[in-house]
Amino acid sequence: MTDATSTPAATAPADPPTPAVALTGVTVRRHDRDGRELVLLDGVDWRVQPGEHWAVLGPNGAGKSTMLQLAGGVTHPTQGTVDVLGHRIGRVDMRALRERIGHVDAATARGLKRGLDGRGVVLSGAFGSLAPQGRRLGPEHEARADALLALTGAEALAVRRFDDCSQGERQRLLLARALMAGEATPALLLLDEPASGLDLPSRERLVGALVASAHRWPTLPTITVTHHLEEIPPTTTHALLLRGGRVLAQGPAADVLASGPVSACFGLGVTVERSGGRWAARLAGG
Ligand SMILES: Nc1ncnc2c1ncn2[C@@H]1O[C@H](COP(=O)(O)OP(=O)(O)OP(=O)(O)O)[C@@H](O)[C@H]1O
Ligand SMILES: [Mg+2]
Repeated sequence: MTDATSTPAATAPADPPTPAVALTGVTVRRHDRDGRELVLLDGVDWRVQPGEHWAVLGPNGAGKSTMLQLAGGVTHPTQGTVDVLGHRIGRVDMRALRERIGHVDAATARGLKRGLDGRGVVLSGAFGSLAPQGRRLGPEHEARADALLALTGAEALAVRRFDDCSQGERQRLLLARALMAGEATPALLLLDEPASGLDLPSRERLVGALVASAHRWPTLPTITVTHHLEEIPPTTTHALLLRGGRVLAQGPAADVLASGPVSACFGLGVTVERSGGRWAARLAGG
C-alpha cells in the first residue's frame, strides 16, 4: 500500500509564481482644486506575472499613467492593495523597491540633471534616482551602460548631450536608462508612451529595441502604455483596456486587441488587424 502523504514533494502542486504586480480592488481618488472628488481608478484587479509583456490602452484621462505609477511604487491606492515584486506598497521601503524598477515616462526626462551626455543619462538609471551617483558607480556599471547603449542602438549618443538629442534619440536613451535598474537587470520595466512624438523610423527602432530587450531577458515583465496599436511590440503577450478608470477588458493580447473590445474602449467603431505579429487599427468601414 502506498502512503500518499509520504512523498509530498513529488505530489504537491508547484506554488504559483509571485506576481510582479498585483492590484486587488484598487481605487484611486484625488481632489481637484475646488475640492471635488475625482475617481482616477475604480475597483481594478490585475496581475502581471514574470515573463508577461502587457500593453495598456485607453482614451486620454482613462487612468493609464496612474496604473503605471501604482506599479512603480510612485503613488498609493486610496482603497485596495498593490503588491510590487512581492512587496505590499505602504509597508516597504519604496526607494529600495524603485531601484529594481526601470521606468520611462515624461517626468523622468524632465527631471534629469541638465548637461548629461547619453552615457550619463543611462548611468543615472543604476540606482533608481535621477542624478548619476558617482560614488556607487563602478566599472561594471560602465560596461553595462555600454552594452545597453548597443542594445538600444544608441552607441553614437554616448557622448552627445541629452538636451541636444532628438525625441527619438532621447526615447532610446531613456529605455537604456530604465534597463540599468536592478543589480544585473531590472525586475520590472514600465514604459509610459515610449514612442510618443517619434517618426516612423524612430518608432520602428524603438520597437526593435523593445523586442531585443524581450529576447535578451525573457522573464523580465514589462508594461507599456500606448495610444497607438501600431506601436505595440510583437512580443506583447497581454493587453488591458481602461475606460473612465475601469478595466474594460484584460487578458491575452490576441483576445483583447480585437475590433470589439478596442471599439468599446474608445467609443468608436474600429477594425483591428494583426499582420506579421504587429497590430493596426482603422475606422470600421473606412
Ligand atoms: N494628482 C491628481 N489630482 C487630480 N486629478 C488627477 C491627478 N492625477 C491625475 N488626475 C486626473 O486623473 C485622470 C487620469 O489621469 P492619468 O494621467 O492616469 O490618465 P492617462 O490615461 O494616463 O491619460 P493620457 O492618455 O492623457 O496620458 C485624468 O483626468 C487626470 O486629470
Ligand atoms: Mg498618461
